[in-house]
Amino acid sequence: MQPIGGRRSVDQVRHWVLPLLVLVFGAKLILQATGEIVICNYEKFHLFDSMYRPRTDNFCVFNDVYLGSDVKGADFLASSLDYKRVAFANSKFPQVPPSLFKNFDDIRELYVRRCSVEMLKITRLLEKVYAGGNRIASVQLDGNASNSLRELYLDGNRLQGLANLTNLPAMEVLVLENNPLLGNVDFAQFGRMERLWKLDLERIGMSRIGNGLKRPLAELRRLDLSNNAITYVHVRMFRTFPKLEHLWLHGNRLYFMEADQVRTLMPTIRSIVIDDNLWGCGHLALLGKQLRDHGIIIRHGNCRTERAVHRVCCSDETDVVDTRYLIEMGIRHETRVQQDVRELRAENDFLRRDLERLKGVLGELMANYTRSVSVQPEAEVMDAEESGEQPASNVASSFEEYEEDGSEK
Ligand SMILES: *[C@@H]1O[C@H](CO)[C@@H](O)[C@H](O)[C@H]1NC(C)=O
Ligand SMILES: *[C@@H]1O[C@H](CO)[C@@H](O)[C@H](O)[C@H]1NC(C)=O
Ligand SMILES: *[C@@H]1O[C@H](CO)[C@@H](O)[C@H](O)[C@H]1NC(C)=O
Repeated sequence: MQPIGGRRSVDQVRHWVLPLLVLVFGAKLILQATGEIVICNYEKFHLFDSMYRPRTDNFCVFNDVYLGSDVKGADFLASSLDYKRVAFANSKFPQVPPSLFKNFDDIRELYVRRCSVEMLKITRLLEKVYAGGNRIASVQLDGNASNSLRELYLDGNRLQGLANLTNLPAMEVLVLENNPLLGNVDFAQFGRMERLWKLDLERIGMSRIGNGLKRPLAELRRLDLSNNAITYVHVRMFRTFPKLEHLWLHGNRLYFMEADQVRTLMPTIRSIVIDDNLWGCGHLALLGKQLRDHGIIIRHGNCRTERAVHRVCCSDETDVVDTRYLIEMGIRHETRVQQDVRELRAENDFLRRDLERLKGVLGELMANYTRSVSVQPEAEVMDAEESGEQPASNVASSFEEYEEDGSEK
């Protein structure tokens, strides 16, 4: 799908890039001045996939690219500009130079881990972007949306908000781990990512779970909320993830988790990691039993302190736990009714939308049916129209009428 002009310039470029390649081969390029040309090597590149399995693929790799704040100076080239996967290694620049996207106009995967990037720009065709371990505070998408982006790794950055990352309907894997400035993120932010199956919100400074989703995220199977500061969880908070299988909650400040209706609200859950929290042993014993009775694996770390239940650390300082528990219960009683009303209203909205959709389908079916019978012979049309208009209890009389009609002819 490359424009003809682009193709021609690629050929021109090939003419002089190959000799150039030989010239610069083996030399480390330190770019400071403007107008420098940087060339990548097409090679096997090692990275990790969405399940942290090692993956090796052909990338065109730029090594040792150092740019100051004027990133426009450099021109990024390759022996072929058709390469779809581009990586930077041992490089440093505040943003990916725009000329990269201009020259590699069919780029699908971009690897810029640990490059000191501050601002990340995501172009239309990019499907996978590995941008962990940078200093990214700002992400810009072409036109504020992307229908291509499927995997985005932004772990270990300085994001403060997700406003620019909402309009990504193709998103499947979103890793936001270790962005401590993000704080409380409402799941509603991810509402348009209907294909999202993995969401990593570990260590983002979250203290409470907010779920204002209007529609379920039907594909989400893995949700990581570990190493935050969450104190309280009700399984109801995950009701919008009907396929959730694995939930990570370790390393929070949890002392209370309500799991009464866990199988109804989380029908496919297989494991919940709950260790390294502030559990009181009494509550933990009940919770652990409840989860295990439903066949849910409580994955745990290695508790080495004296007190542990289900091999998860807990504390017998019941005074402390009880006070916090009572405060939480008070808050819950006040907000419970309001919350129930809100949730019922939301469910009512789901149902209403479903109904509207079904009405639409029914209307279409009726229209199609009418259209299809209108091309049939005349007698059959009469038949269809008559029986269609009669209530079911009048079938017999309509049959008689039809016979009368028939006998008149
Ligand atoms: C969001 O995108 C807009 C427009 O592309 C940009 O000006 C702004 O800096 C971005 N904000 C963040 C926080 O990324
Ligand atoms: C993109 O989103 C940002 C943040 O929501 C907003 O400030 C900006 O105006 C948007 N830009 C466009 C082109 O819609
Ligand atoms: C109605 O007919 C059109 C065209 O034949 C078809 O695309 C559509 O799916 C049909 N609608 C239903 C609800 O079957």
